[in-house]
Amino acid sequence: MTQDFYSKPAIIGGEKAKATPFGTGKRHGELEKQLLADVIDSDMLFYFLGTKVLEFQREFAAMYGKEHCVACSSGTAAVHIALGALELPAGSEVITSSITDMGSLTGVLYQGLVPVFADVDPDTLNMDPASVIRLITDKTRAILVVHHSGLAADMDALLEIGREYNLKVVEDCAQAYCCEYEGRLAGTMGEIAAFSLNHFKHITCGSGGMVITDDPDLRYRASLFLDKCYQREEKIRNPFFLAPNYQMTELQGAVALAQLRKVQAIVNRRNQLGTRLSALLEKLPGIIPQTVPAGSKHAYFLYLFRLDLDRLGCTASEFSEALAAEGIPNSAHLITGGRPVYLYDIFRKRSAFPGTDWPFCPDRLYSKGDCPIAEAAFDRWITMHVYEHYTERDIDEIALGVGKVAHHFAQVHA
Ligand SMILES: Cc1ncc(COP(=O)(O)O)c(C=O)c1O
Repeated sequence: MTQDFYSKPAIIGGEKAKATPFGTGKRHGELEKQLLADVIDSDMLFYFLGTKVLEFQREFAAMYGKEHCVACSSGTAAVHIALGALELPAGSEVITSSITDMGSLTGVLYQGLVPVFADVDPDTLNMDPASVIRLITDKTRAILVVHHSGLAADMDALLEIGREYNLKVVEDCAQAYCCEYEGRLAGTMGEIAAFSLNHFKHITCGSGGMVITDDPDLRYRASLFLDKCYQREEKIRNPFFLAPNYQMTELQGAVALAQLRKVQAIVNRRNQLGTRLSALLEKLPGIIPQTVPAGSKHAYFLYLFRLDLDRLGCTASEFSEALAAEGIPNSAHLITGGRPVYLYDIFRKRSAFPGTDWPFCPDRLYSKGDCPIAEAAFDRWITMHVYEHYTERDIDEIALGVGKVAHHFAQVHA
């Protein structure tokens, strides 16, 4: 028997909506093997003397229409490098999103900068420019914009704030490959942008990252920052600032280069599937897909939708459990462990470095109530994935599952 939205939900004994296995596919193949073999044959794994990292940097910069790309060991490293290259004085405040990965924040703290967390827009979960303005003080030096879930933040407003208050704008594009905002690519609008190649991202080399910029000085300092401040280009070894070793190896470079050739197709496919899913979900009772503003192209690192709890009368956890019973992997409470990042112990207890509360600042506490919209989001949103290997049928069955669960709760609650 074929099912519809009114069929008995699986959580109370009905059939699962997801009747067939999800489409799958391999992420790595012949090209990765061939480029890796080139590296082994070359007997050179060190980026500065090899060719693959160099080639990857050139291709990535060209894809983004930027002058420079510097590759490194992770997205966390990339954000750290971007901040290090900007030479922000220790003690400066950096305003960023209350919903992001810890990798956005590690470099902030290591540079002795004070993170300040902005609230988010209730429809997109991206940083709310009005909240950013409220947080600006005479110590603010930068805005670290996170393009959350693969959807561009409100860049016109954020860039305008940057100009008005003389703040650097750094873009964290770890989740946002080929993501478009009003005809521009996320990552091309601020002074400098960071990307991640970790396992979960659209493309991966196990772990890796890159920074892009048009500014030759930023490129130069970024290249030193990832390599102990050794001036390899000049053959000088006289470090003049503190810098970690965040090198990308030729092995990572080879895989990253192969992956780069696939990224546009991956994002296009995810965009197609995500758009299809939203068109189906927006008709359902109590289901509100993440808003994609006109002019934006969503890269769908994550697929998100919000629950109208008044209409459905259930919690996000109950909805999530019923949806999982339909055979549809999902989670409630977003991906930051069920709370905005400023409620992590490291911020609440000011415990970044042992034996000191440095670099936190006594008049910046991190407490419940700081970002009410972000806090409320954790009980309202469901997170799923639309992977590029999914088929149209997968999407339709996901929509069927969400529809069954939504109608079930809406009816029980009516
Ligand atoms: C927004 C954001 N920034 C930074 C990072 C850190 O990237 P990586 O895991 O490669 O260090 C991530 C990773 O999930 C991320 O999502």
